[in-house]
Amino acid sequence: MTNISLSHTWNTTLYEDKHAFVWQYGEELLKLLNPQPGESILDLGCGTGQLTEKIAQTASEVIGIDSAPAMIEKAKQNYPHLHFDVGDATNFQVEQPLDAVFSNAVLHWVKAADRAIASIHQALKPGGRFVAEFGGKGNVQAIAQALSHAVEAIGAPQALNPWYFPSIAEYATLLEQQGFDVIYAVLLARPTPLADGEAGLLNWIQMFASAFLIELSVEQQIQVIRNVEEYLKPTLYHQGTWTADYRRIRILAIKI
Ligand code: BEZ
Repeated sequence: MTNISLSHTWNTTLYEDKHAFVWQYGEELLKLLNPQPGESILDLGCGTGQLTEKIAQTASEVIGIDSAPAMIEKAKQNYPHLHFDVGDATNFQVEQPLDAVFSNAVLHWVKAADRAIASIHQALKPGGRFVAEFGGKGNVQAIAQALSHAVEAIGAPQALNPWYFPSIAEYATLLEQQGFDVIYAVLLARPTPLADGEAGLLNWIQMFASAFLIELSVEQQIQVIRNVEEYLKPTLYHQGTWTADYRRIRILAIKI
């Protein structure tokens, strides 16, 4: 039987057990950050803290912030020696200007990108770096379209798409308008295998795409997910594994 549980709060156990790829793929971004001893670095949208801890292995002062209290609670349990706080990407302040702001797999949730960039800019020292990776233009397009079509097909109301997937040109323009030099930007196709075999897409939808289904009854949600699975199976399910059609934007910008 399908076990459906859709909610607006993050399930940190499901996040850590089934979606560890979120921070495992973040290791590449750490190389771009290249933290140095003596530096102060903020991990924006730190989740349960795994990458914050990696940054803290080198940098001197590291703080992780996340808008989800459940994530921060878990991060503090995981790494009690580190500093974590609840904070909003569009409106955070730091006591001392930072050498770097790092953000992995978060800014696709922040539609007010200009406000997030303004907060990041004011948090950095001149010459400080902003290093980020998140969903870029065309990210999970097949899944998003299949969800929209399946909701439409049962005559249910369409929910607002919860994601912001900009192009490089769009995001670099916003950064330049607010006083950054963009010195590296790339849009990468990164097909991402999902854990849990046949249940992989269902788990992913529960974790990341529940907003599409929030107006629906449980029966309708089951029907939509089944239709999405059936529609996407020929392209995204191979040899017992679902693969999500991720495209990531990766950016390094310097505060002027
Ligand atoms: C991503 O990490 O690319 C992603 C996360 C949540 C929803 C969609 C995409």
